[in-house]
Amino acid sequence: MLQKMDNIFSDFQAKIETLKKQADVLSLKSEVIGKKGTLAEILKSLKDATPEQRKTIGPKSNQIKQDIEKMVFDKIQQIELAEVNEKLEKSKIDFSLTDSVLAKGLQASGLHPVSQIQREIEDIFISMGFDVLDGPHIENEYHNFEALNIPDTHPARDMQDTFWFKDMKHLLRTHTSTIQVRGMESRKPPFKFVGPGKVFRCERTDATHEMCFHQLEGMMVGKDINVGNLIYFMKTLLKQIFKKDMEVRLRPGYFPFVEPGFELDIRWKKPGKGESEHSGWLELLPCGMVHPNVLKAGGIDPEEYNGFAFGLGLDRLVMVKYMIEDIRHLHSGDLRFNKQFKAY
Ligand code: DAH
Repeated sequence: MLQKMDNIFSDFQAKIETLKKQADVLSLKSEVIGKKGTLAEILKSLKDATPEQRKTIGPKSNQIKQDIEKMVFDKIQQIELAEVNEKLEKSKIDFSLTDSVLAKGLQASGLHPVSQIQREIEDIFISMGFDVLDGPHIENEYHNFEALNIPDTHPARDMQDTFWFKDMKHLLRTHTSTIQVRGMESRKPPFKFVGPGKVFRCERTDATHEMCFHQLEGMMVGKDINVGNLIYFMKTLLKQIFKKDMEVRLRPGYFPFVEPGFELDIRWKKPGKGESEHSGWLELLPCGMVHPNVLKAGGIDPEEYNGFAFGLGLDRLVMVKYMIEDIRHLHSGDLRFNKQFKAY
């Protein structure tokens, strides 16, 4: 009988080794030490054994049961661990791929040159104490025109071909000057802020015109602000962008929201070209002293405060800085173009 028990145990040991599923382990267990298992079957003949034999058979059977329980427990744990490992293995990300893709020429991404220059200019103005404001692309007539001293009948509305909504009350903002109005509405003087963003004009596109382009508006309002302040800030900005002192000049320019209004030009020479042919003045920055009507619309008393404003064309600036001859490259989405600009 003892021999039979040993056989049952070694048989169990051999079988459990080969099993891979929890259910199979559990059924093997009940086949051997279950109520109707092989061990129980043998113990039935215990009644025929001598008292001497019984003394050893009882403890031996208990020992076998304990050993089997332990082996089943260990085996199940082993199977669970293998299952978890298999799942992990299946969902594992193969990092080695990155190296091979990189080797094939995938490059780190970078910002579009217009975004780069926008951030650069925002940083320059922040360092000079300006806030950076935002405004909606969909505007109403009041913020785009009326509050900027461009009433309904004003011919200046024709200067900017507008995308109107069906209600003829809303439009895609034609300039970031709308941010001047929103800025005045939300703060009390003295203040200074810039407002960058997309603007939209219903125009035929060509090398210098796009339906959607980028501006950066600037406004400073306080007491006794003068044209000298305006020139100072503009020269500081240009020096930072072009990394050298820039020669500038002001010409009279007309914009209904400023009086006097100016065109600020920079002295510009295309690098590498002959002096006479390619150097000259380049129109870069319309600006002026804020019109009293605009201050009034913004809830500011023009008797007490005055200020300057400017509207910088960001696409134009990128074109000048990188000598790009056609504005349409900027919106082409052509990676061969975009890739030439380094990551920011
Ligand atoms: N809003 C004008 C435009 O889009 C640009 C401009 C001109 C803005 C003069 C200004 C300014 O702030 O003072 O054509």
